[in-house]
Amino acid sequence: MRVVETCAEMMAACRQAARPLGLVPTMGALHEGHLSLTRQARADNVTMAASIFVNPTQFGPNEDFARYPRSLERDLELLETEGTDLVFVPPPDEVYPEGFDTWIEPGAVAEGMEGAARPGHFRGVATVVAKLFTITRPELAYFGQKDGQQVAVIRKMNHDLNLGVEIVTMPTIREPDGLALSSRNAYLTPEQREAAPAVYRALCAAEDVWRRGERDAARVQRAAYNILERETLVDAVDYVSVVDADSMRPVETVQNDLELMIATAVRLGSVRLIDNVVLG
Ligand code: PAF
Repeated sequence: MRVVETCAEMMAACRQAARPLGLVPTMGALHEGHLSLTRQARADNVTMAASIFVNPTQFGPNEDFARYPRSLERDLELLETEGTDLVFVPPPDEVYPEGFDTWIEPGAVAEGMEGAARPGHFRGVATVVAKLFTITRPELAYFGQKDGQQVAVIRKMNHDLNLGVEIVTMPTIREPDGLALSSRNAYLTPEQREAAPAVYRALCAAEDVWRRGERDAARVQRAAYNILERETLVDAVDYVSVVDADSMRPVETVQNDLELMIATAVRLGSVRLIDNVVLG
């Protein structure tokens, strides 16, 4: 496994690499969710590349950039075990050198939910992913369904800008009690950790109502709120939304011919958890 720190060296290495090349972009602190992406990428491609970069531009001023979990040595060991060929680990000024001033501004797909709660977040995500695509020129790139709106933003950018990458979305990996794996779960206190599966339970309750025939989105959402409001350690529910899984547009009446996503963001103390289920 080759570890590369500069854009120029990574571009050269990818240009010479045997194809197809699959890219797994990450911010490190790897868990089984990330490893499900690397395993799929390993199986699908001749060259498997990963990136580890805690992207400062996707964090708001009051967010957790400084304390975001970092475990580079362990991450590299895991990537090596998974058969990674190339790992890109650039320092921030390699990705954003002095004077950097060109951004990808996603449109309506990025307006609601995470986009509304975290202004500028998807501009940072889209910009860094576009840069990673340009540097590595992958045939395929792998993302987790847990960040469902992020996947929709990347798919739309890839389509609108003719980037030509096949975007592969892998299912959310969960703890046995349903909590979606996330690097941010490390922030939870033991009490919050015990309460956190309520997030997935709430989504399942909403899905269940839908499966039993309810087609009014407000009532589907209400089923999730009922569970979350009963959990005393849940301090705030930023949203429960029923959206078109492709455009992220909210729907009022759940239609059978659309693929839909029920998504939520919940705060337990200072920890913000997001999760979603796809209806179909
Ligand atoms: O999902 C993540 O870890 C990040 O948002 C990504 C896609 C690596 C961009 O920084």
